[in-house]
Amino acid sequence: MSGPEPLAVTWSSEPSPALIADARRAAERWALPLYERPHKRGLAPKLGVVASAFLVRGGKGWSLVDAQGALGVSPGLAMLRLKRLGQGAPLPDPLLHEAAIAPGEIVVDATCGLGADARVLASAAGPRGRVIGVEASKPLAVLLAEGLPLEPPWPGSAPLEVVHADALAWLREQPSRSVDVVYFDPMFDRTRKASPAFAELRRFAEPRPLTRAAVDEARRVARRLVLMKSADPETFPPLGLEPQAPQPNALVYWGRRVLRGP
Ligand SMILES: C[S@@+](CC[C@H](N)C(=O)[O-])C[C@H]1O[C@@H](n2cnc3c(N)ncnc32)[C@H](O)[C@@H]1O
Repeated sequence: MSGPEPLAVTWSSEPSPALIADARRAAERWALPLYERPHKRGLAPKLGVVASAFLVRGGKGWSLVDAQGALGVSPGLAMLRLKRLGQGAPLPDPLLHEAAIAPGEIVVDATCGLGADARVLASAAGPRGRVIGVEASKPLAVLLAEGLPLEPPWPGSAPLEVVHADALAWLREQPSRSVDVVYFDPMFDRTRKASPAFAELRRFAEPRPLTRAAVDEARRVARRLVLMKSADPETFPPLGLEPQAPQPNALVYWGRRVLRGP
C-alpha cells in the first residue's frame, strides 16, 4: 500500500460551489492531488492517511494544514512595516534601507517564503516595477500564489509573481543582467526569537543554506545589486558578499555585492 501524499488540495467543511471549483482549479494548476472532502467532515483523521498536509480553500482564503496546525497567508506584517514608514518611523525599514529600490525596478526575492519582504519590495518598486518571488517549498509557493489574488489590491505596488523553483535552478534559466536586484533571505537558526508564525513556516520551508553557486548566478543575472540577510555576518565572505556595518542592537546582518551604483 502506498503512503500518504506529501500535499493535497481540498476545501473547508461546508464549502460553496465556488470554493469547490477554486480548489479543483488550484489542484489542476499545481498538479496536486485533490481530496474531495465529504460535507461537514473534519480533516484530522485524513492527515497522515490521505496526505501529510492539505492546502484548504475556505471562505477566508487558503490555509496550509498539517498535524501540527494551520498556516495562513496575509499582507499583515508587510502592511505594518509600510504603515510605520508612512508615519515617519525614526529608523528606515532595514530592507528598504539596504536595497534602495527605485520605482520601476525589477526585483527578484529568491527566497520568498510567504512574501512579507517581497510585498515591501513591491511597494518600493511601484506600479511600473516588477517583483518575482521564487520559493523552493511547494506548499509555501502554492499558499502564497493562490492567496495573493484574494487579498485587497495594494495600490501603488508592483505586481508580485510567485514561482515555485529552487533559486539556483531558476537563476540559471535567466538571461544575464535581466533584473535589477536579487535578494536572498534563506533559512537560518532563529528558533529562539522566532514568532509563532515563523515557527509554522519553518515546518514547510526549505532548510538548506544558500550556496556560493546561487549567489554567483545572482551576480550574473542582476544589474545593480545582490543583497542577503543573515543572522551571522560570517556567512557573507564565503558567498562573495561584503558584510555591511550592522545597525546598533541588530538581530540580523546584511551582506551585498553592488554591481552598479544607483
Ligand atoms: C526566512 S524565509 C523567507 C522569509 C521572507 N523573506 C519573508 O519576508 O516572508 C526563507 C524562505 O526561503 C525558502 N528557500 C530556502 N532555500 C531556497 C532556495 N534555494 N530556493 C528558493 N527558496 C528557498 C524557504 O523555503 C523559506 O520559505
